[in-house]
Parts: sequence; C-alpha cells; structure tokens
Amino acid sequence: ANADKGMHKHFMSKEIAEQPAVLGDAVKHYINTERNAVVLPDVDLDFSKISQITMVACGTAYLACNVAKYWFEQIAGIPVDLDVASEFRYREPPLRDNTLAVFVSQSGETADTLAALRYCNDNHAQTIGVVNVPESSIARESNASLQIHAGVEIGVASTKAFTCQLTVLMTMVIKAARQRGKLDADGEAALVSALLGLPSIINVALQAEHEIIDVANALSKFSDTLFLGRGALFPIALEGALKLKEISYIHAEGYASGELKHGPIALVDENMPIVVFAPKDALFDKTVSNMQEVMARRGKVILFTDDAGAQVASDGAWKVIKMPAVHAPLAPILYAIPAQLLAYHTAVAKGTDVDQPRNLAKSVTVE
Ligand code: G6P
Repeated sequence: ANADKGMHKHFMSKEIAEQPAVLGDAVKHYINTERNAVVLPDVDLDFSKISQITMVACGTAYLACNVAKYWFEQIAGIPVDLDVASEFRYREPPLRDNTLAVFVSQSGETADTLAALRYCNDNHAQTIGVVNVPESSIARESNASLQIHAGVEIGVASTKAFTCQLTVLMTMVIKAARQRGKLDADGEAALVSALLGLPSIINVALQAEHEIIDVANALSKFSDTLFLGRGALFPIALEGALKLKEISYIHAEGYASGELKHGPIALVDENMPIVVFAPKDALFDKTVSNMQEVMARRGKVILFTDDAGAQVASDGAWKVIKMPAVHAPLAPILYAIPAQLLAYHTAVAKGTDVDQPRNLAKSVTVE
C-alpha cells in the first residue's frame, strides 16, 4: 500500500494533492469545450418542469448538497430541500409533484442514502444518483446517475470526492439554469470557463500548504475550535469542522457566521481558535464584523480569504492565509482545499491515524 501513496505519507494527502487532476477530468466529462457549454448525456430531464429538488446524503456528501442548495436556488431558481438520509428515510416526507430527488454518495452504497432513494422511487420522484462508483447500488437504482470521476478514494475522510461532487453538481446547476431561462449562453460560458480554470487555481491554493502547516501546528495545541462561513461558504465551515474532528479529534463546530451571536460567542475566549472562510464577496463586511466581535473577546481568528479581503480584514487576526481569487460561485470548491489541509496537518501534528480514524468507516453500509 505504501507504493500507492507515492511520495505521500498518507492517502489523504495524496488525495488532496490529486484534486487539480481529478477535477479537471471530472469537468471534461460534462462539458463541450467547443461551445463552453454543459452536456449531461445520461440525464434525460427537463429542469423547467421541476418544481422542487430534494437532496439527501450523509457526512461530507451531505455537505456537498448544502453547497448545491445555494447554487440551485441562486443560479437556477429552484427551491431545494435537504436532509441527512437517516432522518429523511424515517420521516417519510410527502413529496411534491415534479420533485427531482438527488442522492450524493461517494461509495454509492451508504445504507441510509440507499433507503432514502428507494423511498423516493416508490413515491414517484425522478431520482438522480451522484456517485463515484458506477456499478454501485445508488447508481443502479436511480433513474439516472452521474459519475464524479474522482478515482478511487481510500482515506476515510473524503477529500477529492467532495470537490468532484461539487463540480458535477455545479454542471447540473448550470444545465438547470439554462433550461429555466435563468442563465444565458454568456453566463453559462463564464461558469464553464471558471470550472475549466479551477485546476490551476487549486494548484495555487495547494501552495499555501507550508503556511497551513504552521497554523495547524499551533491549532493542534487547542481542544475546541469554531468554524464560520456565510452563504455557500457556510457548508465549507461545516466541512472544515467535520474534517478536523474526524481526524484530529479536536472538538470543532461549524456555524453560519450570522449565528455567532445566538450561542457560540458564549464560548469565545483566548482558548478558542475561530477559523473563518471568507473571500471578499457581497457579504464580506458582515463577516468582518463577526470577526471583530470574536477578537474583542480575545478569540484567535484564523482567516482564509483572498487578497482583497486580506487588505481590509487582517488587523487583529491571529493568522491570515491568502487564497487566489476565483469566480464567486466557485469559492466553496476552492475553500474546501485549505479546510482539508488544515485538518490533515493538525492531525499529523497530533500524530493521529489520518487514513483510518478511530470508530469511523469509509462506507457505512449498515445502519
Ligand atoms: C462515511 C465516511 C465519510 C462519507 C460518508 C458518506 O461517514 O467516513 O467520508 O462522507 O460516509 O459516504 P458516501 O459513500 O455515501 O459518500
């Protein structure tokens, strides 16, 4: 198995580093590069007839659905419900007419997700599986399936599958937005070329690894952390917290920045590092005031932002790590990279078993 890791110490670090290549590959499967347009050959669906999307998954795949909710609603104008599969399957929610149900699963075998898919099939929804394993149960039992083309993922904590899930979900969003008249050909081409440009932007983000190692070494001394983000970066805060707790065993909570005042701020003191994912977008100033509230209580802010954000928001932050600029809707994909690297290097600093964290399994095929 050592050989398979190449020059990497763990599968997780290999899989993080593979992302520019696999994302580039994933995107090419769903794009006509001559027209800079999306093609979803296996999805025979008219999105203009869909009145509701329901997304169901577990773990990191569920967090990919959380990002996609922002995209489907903001870019394609389709309302999205989402739920973790273990809740959805037993709640047995009534489904509206013309519901599209989307099941995201790296393995395609997660028991709860599969049960939720069967429920939707039985209740006349159209179903799409977004999977990494083409012959998996979820792929076979969905009306249509989309492969994420991440290649085999071995690290228990999902990395490249997450960013490939997001990439493929974005192509679905673009298709839906076009069919619903929410995006013109120019808008589509802009998003498609931004997707095609992601591998090189992610390569730049990966170069922040050395700075992230320094932050991770410092972070590894703490026992509680808070992750904040707004808009489509909120799910990345959740993902950063999930990754950190899974592999470093440091207690981590993800919150929407705006919820800070409604609870977590009570915990903030000098023993609480607060990781913030905030490119300088339309809501940036609101996040800056959240950071100021935290810093006024001696919380240690670790800010991941772009050049423009760093220029105005670095004062008082404990650490600032710069990410390259990116077409705004794709920021969640980019900021997943430092979230992964931070968790990985914190776990390495603590000496935990990164690829096989205690009590966790790669694929949860029993309840
Ligand atoms: C487990 C894994 C996670 C994964 C989740 C869902 O908890 O440890 O990394 O996100 O299952 O798995 P799936 O195969 O359905 O994406």
